[in-house]
Amino acid sequence: MESNFEEIISGFLEKRVGIANEFLSADLALHLKENLLLLFENKAMKEAGIGNGLLLSHDKKIRSDKIFWLEKKDNNPHERIFFDLIDSFILYLNRTCFTGIKSYEFHYALYEKGAFYKKHLDQFKSDDGRAFSMIMYLNKGWLAKDGGELKVYQETGIQIIPPDNQKCIFFKSNELEHEVLLTNVTRMSVTGWLKTSL
Ligand code: OGA
Ligand code: NI
Repeated sequence: MESNFEEIISGFLEKRVGIANEFLSADLALHLKENLLLLFENKAMKEAGIGNGLLLSHDKKIRSDKIFWLEKKDNNPHERIFFDLIDSFILYLNRTCFTGIKSYEFHYALYEKGAFYKKHLDQFKSDDGRAFSMIMYLNKGWLAKDGGELKVYQETGIQIIPPDNQKCIFFKSNELEHEVLLTNVTRMSVTGWLKTSL
């Protein structure tokens, strides 16, 4: 577990984007995907918005994914394992990097064929609580022709990251602009933010 944490942190420090290819176990990725697909079938996933609270708007020209927020009180056993993993990562991060993370929020995301999320930053103008963005992908056997890559606008150029199963991406929410390129097949993830506010 800690080797994954180290991989993320060293990648983040060296290249502004931390990546661990097997952050989620194959078993956990499969169960989270099953949860997500069930929510989708039950029409529980909602069109994602832009902004927060009163500033929330739904603009399908900017993003067209569907989301569902994870909640500890749902008591899903696989989400419990996921939250334990995130708790361990935050302990490690706060201990080794003095990041002062106090809370987090995560949602499932599903991009149907043709969906995308245009270039953006993850921090809301009205709230600076989001310190780090974390995305974990649930897509087994992703192929180049499937599209749907995460495109990161680094100062040094463009970085293209395919949304491979079990992979975790980590970067500073207010710093790095990024986008999700149009996907040609269903694209699933758990996406969230580590926050310095409660
Ligand atoms: C987001 C986002 C990237 C991805 O939800 O804010 O940028 O690869 N997601 O899913
Ligand atoms: Ni984003």
